[in-house]
Amino acid sequence: MTTTDRTPRKLHVVTHGCQMNVYDSARMTDLLRPLGYETVAAPEGADMVIINTCHIRERAEEKVFSQLGRLRKMKEEQGGNMMIAVTGCVAQAEGEVLAQRAPFVDLVVGPQAYHRLPELIAQAHRKAGAVIDTDFPVEQKFDYLPDDAAPQGVVSFLSIQEGCDKFCSFCVVPYTRGAEASRPVASVLAEAKRMVALGAREIALLGQNVNAYHGEGPDGSTWSLAQLMDKMAEIEGLERIRYTTSHPNDMGEDLILAHRDNIKLMPFLHLPVQSGSDKILRAMNRKHKADDFRRIVERLRHVRPDMAMSSDFITGHPGETDADFEETMKLVRETGFALAYSFKYSPRPGTPAASLPQVEEAVKDARLQELQGLLREQQNTFNASIVGLETPVLFTGSGRHPGQIAGRSLWLQPVVVEHETDLTGKIRMVKITRANPNSLSGTLLDKELIAA
Ligand code: SAH
Ligand code: SF4
Ligand code: F3S
Repeated sequence: MTTTDRTPRKLHVVTHGCQMNVYDSARMTDLLRPLGYETVAAPEGADMVIINTCHIRERAEEKVFSQLGRLRKMKEEQGGNMMIAVTGCVAQAEGEVLAQRAPFVDLVVGPQAYHRLPELIAQAHRKAGAVIDTDFPVEQKFDYLPDDAAPQGVVSFLSIQEGCDKFCSFCVVPYTRGAEASRPVASVLAEAKRMVALGAREIALLGQNVNAYHGEGPDGSTWSLAQLMDKMAEIEGLERIRYTTSHPNDMGEDLILAHRDNIKLMPFLHLPVQSGSDKILRAMNRKHKADDFRRIVERLRHVRPDMAMSSDFITGHPGETDADFEETMKLVRETGFALAYSFKYSPRPGTPAASLPQVEEAVKDARLQELQGLLREQQNTFNASIVGLETPVLFTGSGRHPGQIAGRSLWLQPVVVEHETDLTGKIRMVKITRANPNSLSGTLLDKELIAA
């Protein structure tokens, strides 16, 4: 790898999919910086374009191909002087097929192989046709990523676990991200400390199944997520810790108690349940019942009464009847969610559910509408319940309008305050005065800092 060649080059990165892809895109940019690549906001005129892709639903995949169509034209207009790399989960899943379908693509790199990007780029310069690397290498990519990451801001994301061994009937992740693997504690702590030194006040730990984290501790023993977060809470300057995404089966008692004992852990949890019907949960291979989810939520609210819940739902999984869907609505009504994401089931190639008899599109749609109506109502109710509260807000930057600053509540809600002075990175008490559809408005309570 030549790190001495610093001819300035323009790099444009497009990111689809989950937060882990956002993290990966940032790390790819870090990897290419020593080679002279500087990021630009638009693809026109770029020397290199990376599309970091998502394969989770059909629509996510379609987006990639329409974007590639536009890039092809641009590349032609630049006389071929644009290296195009497709990375992420579509790259992993499609590999060769993608290279054939889009022959103007120079590099196809899976999510576990992108630390090899500098050498792959060199190979692509030498070779006609696409260079494809969709291996799951034995070495962990995290060991090969540079230490000098660019700052992400007040709220930073840190991948600590990758891959999934759960094989839910509908999901491509075990195929695109490979087997579950956790980073060692020391490497996570070192990165967290670097992030805080660069201005992070809140860190969200990421993983496809982040609560299954089982990293090697400094003493050689295996550490759980709760243990890791305990140690992270000792980092001075770090004020807030979150983790996402979790699976109900890995919600151990120590993790539940961390929401009581770890003062930096936020009272908000994204815990996907997918369905409220035991029959569908079984068909989905989720390996838990709706009541298991109910019990976890009850325990969490018992140890931390202000705990707010978020979740993911799928409507129209093969086999889902009106009665099954009604079970989902019932679970939602009983739980009360602060936030939720819901999707129409999308059959994905190679997954078990894709080969089963499918629910009609119109039925999937109607159920999604009904579910989203209820979830929206619950989100409004939750936001309205915060009005009147005096609560700490972590300020992340300026608001959309002049004279406004913006931050986040304990429960992930955007909060907007009229204030002239920049408070980025600081936590202040705010009285919440109004709930808007997607944010809260408030007024600064006093001059006293909670955290600088
Ligand atoms: N690891 C997480 C979520 C991964 S994907 C978990 O275990 O829950 C994010 C969400 O996308 C999932 O929670 C699910 O609700 C949705 N999803 C995944 N595959 C899907 C599919 N084939 N069709 C529709 N939604 C899907
Ligand atoms: Fe996909 Fe299930 Fe793994 Fe989540 S737990 S990533 S939904 S297979
Ligand atoms: Fe998509 Fe891959 Fe994330 S499929 S949701 S980018 S793990």
